[in-house]
Amino acid sequence: MAAAGSAVGLGNIWKFPYIAGENGGAAFLIVYLICVLLFGLPLIMTEFLIGKRSGKSAYGAFQTLNGNSRWNWLSWLCMLTAFLIMGFYFVVTGWCFSYLTEALTGVFHGLSMDTLSSHFEAVVANKPRMLLFSVLPVALTAAVLWFDVNTGIERLSKILMPLLLLMMLLMAGCVLMLDGSNIGLQFFFRADFTKITPTVVMEAMGQCFFSLSIGMGALITYGAYMPKTQNVTATSIQVIVLDTLVAILAGIIIFPAVFAFGLNPEEGPQLVFVVLPAIFEQMSFPWLSSVLFFALLCIAALTSTISLMEVAVAFVCEASNGKLNRHKSVLIVSAGVIALVVLCVGIPFIFNYFDKVTADIMMPLGAMGMCLFVGWCLPKNGEKGVLHADKGIKHIAGKIYIAALRFLVPAAIILIFLNSLRIL
Ligand code: PFF
Repeated sequence: MAAAGSAVGLGNIWKFPYIAGENGGAAFLIVYLICVLLFGLPLIMTEFLIGKRSGKSAYGAFQTLNGNSRWNWLSWLCMLTAFLIMGFYFVVTGWCFSYLTEALTGVFHGLSMDTLSSHFEAVVANKPRMLLFSVLPVALTAAVLWFDVNTGIERLSKILMPLLLLMMLLMAGCVLMLDGSNIGLQFFFRADFTKITPTVVMEAMGQCFFSLSIGMGALITYGAYMPKTQNVTATSIQVIVLDTLVAILAGIIIFPAVFAFGLNPEEGPQLVFVVLPAIFEQMSFPWLSSVLFFALLCIAALTSTISLMEVAVAFVCEASNGKLNRHKSVLIVSAGVIALVVLCVGIPFIFNYFDKVTADIMMPLGAMGMCLFVGWCLPKNGEKGVLHADKGIKHIAGKIYIAALRFLVPAAIILIFLNSLRIL
């Protein structure tokens, strides 16, 4: 559940609809699902297995398994990726917190679509306020790591995840009753294959890594906490199914509403913040629905930021050889993150750049590094191999898994890179 909490977040509800909207709807969905099948299962399993086998976070795991420091660059890449993602992710979490406070005061009641759009622009343009709302989730995340209440978070997400799903189902039901919603469903489900371009494929791959939290070591930490008896394959499949379900549900809510309200699906990052308040106005209890939904969204974002910050905190703690304890590491990481948040709030280009460079380049590179590490560098089945960490992967399945790591996944990532550079 904690890993699902890391995966399910703003990537599903904020990013997936706007990236899908910009990249042809159904065409994007098909490529995205192929990416989830191709990369999702082998890579989530790999991170879990590395963590479970080594008992370490992304900092010490590679060295522990390999016995030397040659793969330490991969730990550094994971840490750097976590920092850059936090820079923009906390800003979007800040938008959610800002919308939650406004939902509480009933600001959205009776606003037209045009006003909702300019409202979002006004929210983002108010930099001091935005900064405050972005630093608030940094402080909340730091507090969770400071007091080490991760188990409490897991208990919380066991209740809140089903509640979020239920809420989204209700919203989907309401949206599908709107006039013109079928055009949105067609946009999302009826594919026009001519719209599949190298850019669409690259964006789908990036979104898959981002949404499933893979390629930057967050799930290695969760693997390290797994009980010995836990089945890695089954757990990985559960995380993938839940994450994909939430993303598709977000599409089923957003696109029919976009077309019913006469909006453009290519609105970009502001898409859901314009559409959601308008959807609540159509529901039976607008105030209650909007407050409940934005509260759940904030918590879903926090369960993701906790896993992100944990990567950096564990890194600083362990890299200092114990000189910096957990509390000091939390403070240092928070200070660094706040500096990045200031940059992202102040300069929109940096916000967009961090978003793109992490999902489209750094996470795929990190994932490829992990594939090559496990596939080529560690002995396949011996004492040191990761398969030893799990009794659930039987002989043939283990062979297929290792073959995927050695050839299929790295080759697919390289092909997608070359394709998007128009070299192929
Ligand atoms: N998967 C998260 C989301 O979809 O919102 C984002 C994320 C969390 C990415 C944790 C990476 C990570 F380590």
